[in-house]
This record gives sequence, C-alpha cells and structure tokens, in this order.
Amino acid sequence: MYDFKIDAADKPALYAELAAAAEALTAGEPDGIANMANVAALLWEALPDLNWAGFYRAIDGELVLGPFQGRPACIRIPFGKGVCGAAAVSLEAQCVADVHAFPGHIACDIASRSELVVPILSGGALVAVLDLDSPTPNRFDDEDVAGCLDLAQRLKGCFGGVSKGASQA
Ligand code: SME
Repeated sequence: MYDFKIDAADKPALYAELAAAAEALTAGEPDGIANMANVAALLWEALPDLNWAGFYRAIDGELVLGPFQGRPACIRIPFGKGVCGAAAVSLEAQCVADVHAFPGHIACDIASRSELVVPILSGGALVAVLDLDSPTPNRFDDEDVAGCLDLAQRLKGCFGGVSKGASQA
C-alpha cells in the first residue's frame, strides 16, 4: 500500500502534489495498465466530488475501457462519440459543464453531471484519454484542465505500449 498525503491549499498546488505522487508511483514500472490503475486510484482519492475517474485506451481506432474507479462503465467508445470520443478526435481537452447539454454524451453513470476528458499523447500518437466525471454541474474549471493536461504530459511515457492491445505492452 502507498499512503500519499495530498493536502494542498489550492488547486494548482493540489495538481502539483498529485503529479509528483503519480510520478513516484509509476517510476520504473513499464506496465501501462498497472500504472493507469494506480493513477486512477490516486486521482479518486485526491480529487473531491468525483463519481468516476479512469482511463480509456486507444486501441485499433476505438477507445477501450481501462483502469478506473467508480461504477462499471461502457466498454468501447468509437472515436468521435461522446465526450471521450470528442477528445480522441480533437486531441484537445473537453471540459463539459453540463453533460446533459453535450450532444452525444454517453451516460455511463446517470449521476454524472459534468465531465473533463484529456487526451494522453505519446510520440504524437493517442495512447489513452483520462476521464473524470462529477455528480456536480460545472465541477471542473480551467485549473482542473491545466492540472490534468500537465498530468497527462508528465505521465505519457508510463502509459505507453497499450495502443495495439494490452498483451503487447
Ligand atoms: N461520459 C463519457 C463516457 C465514459 S463514462 O463517463 C465513464 C462520454 O460521453 O464519452
């Protein structure tokens, strides 16, 4: 068990501590699935007001459910579908204040009201998306977007090797 004390005064500090903890957790571990699992657990513990936190992996042109915390979720998402699929196609963060107003939103958990999805790129290729859901409308702001993009940038190397199937990691 790892016991990280993440107790920051503000969001930028929170994400800085989170990123440092995530880097420590994943250091030296080449298995992308194991690293996603630990980072999902870390996010779940450290970020308040979430009902889902985890990853979808980009495999052969679609998103496939990866390690997560929260309720069981839809397994495969075509590129371009839902918030995750929009992030996969645009390769840009999708910060959705009201998921009910997002055309094509995929409701994996009826409790979700807002969502933040950031793409994780390694070597210019999409490896995965990080997906955070909240039961609170407008839960995510620019500081969450910046924090998650920084996390994706800093951790991109440790999630690699899964884009052609987990068995080839
Ligand atoms: N809501 C997402 C689907 C994934 S779940 O939230 C875990 C979407 O619209 O892509």
